[in-house]
Amino acid sequence: MQSSKKRVALVTGANRGIGFAVASLLARKGLTVIIGARDEKNGLDAQKRMSGNGRDVHFTLLDVADPTSIIAAIGRIDGLFGRLDVLVNNAGILIDSETGILELSLGLLQNTLKTNTFGPLLLSQGCVPLMQKHDYGRIVNISSTLGSLTEIVNPDSPYHDQHSPAYRLSKTMLNAITALLAKELHGTNILVNSVCPGWVRTDLGGPRAPLLPEQAAETPVWLATLPDDGPTGGFFREHQPIPW
Ligand SMILES: NC(=O)c1ccc[n+]([C@@H]2O[C@H](COP(=O)([O-])OP(=O)(O)OC[C@H]3O[C@@H](n4cnc5c(N)ncnc54)[C@H](OP(=O)(O)O)[C@@H]3O)[C@@H](O)[C@H]2O)c1
Repeated sequence: MQSSKKRVALVTGANRGIGFAVASLLARKGLTVIIGARDEKNGLDAQKRMSGNGRDVHFTLLDVADPTSIIAAIGRIDGLFGRLDVLVNNAGILIDSETGILELSLGLLQNTLKTNTFGPLLLSQGCVPLMQKHDYGRIVNISSTLGSLTEIVNPDSPYHDQHSPAYRLSKTMLNAITALLAKELHGTNILVNSVCPGWVRTDLGGPRAPLLPEQAAETPVWLATLPDDGPTGGFFREHQPIPW
């Protein structure tokens, strides 16, 4: 086991997109970073691209849709580092952009929830005991404005015509998980927040998105490195609170 007092961060789905940018920025800030990826080759490749300049970057195999994989990854992290200070629940899928809620199949909803919602919940449940050991923890749930109930009920919302009901529901529930975790951990030094990274040029966001992953990483990284008196139980975009 490493005896370092350096903060250790796990970023899920960090082999590409926003997760890669968040993990890179955390590594640049001097944290020990663990890239969670479900494909070994892609994870090791990302580790290679992110390393250098003294950055401490590791890889762990992690499929967030698979509870067995989650338990195994947390066990490996505990065994290797004996600590986990930061969890960024970033891995996500959007597989129902053309579907309306009236056509939404249970299978599609379940698949989406497994990755976007149940994975982050199980990871949080498994990682909080490691955070409690050192009385320090930051959990950042990468959510989306599309999951905001305020946006869903607003007929003037720019997202009004957007379908993706499974994706939207998964992020609404993820936000509720953020709020419940923050409530339960209130008074401890474990801060839990949701963040919308904005519309970002990735495989998920598409080529027309205005933001680069590096720009989108800034607010998640701020939340991942909050001071002890920082906010908890909030939903943020560009460093500002936004409505649930
Ligand atoms: N892009 C946007 O405009 C936007 C806006 C709002 C919110 N978000 C959120 O930001 C997060 C990252 O999105 P992105 O735009 O960076 O998407 P992306 O480029 O498609 O990357 C998604 C990442 O998640 C990983 N992943 C998916 N399912 C996984 C699983 N079961 N286990 C482990 N990893 C898994 C992917 O791994 P593989 O390479 O193995 O597929 C990939 O690393 C998501 O939660 C998304 O909902 C994005």
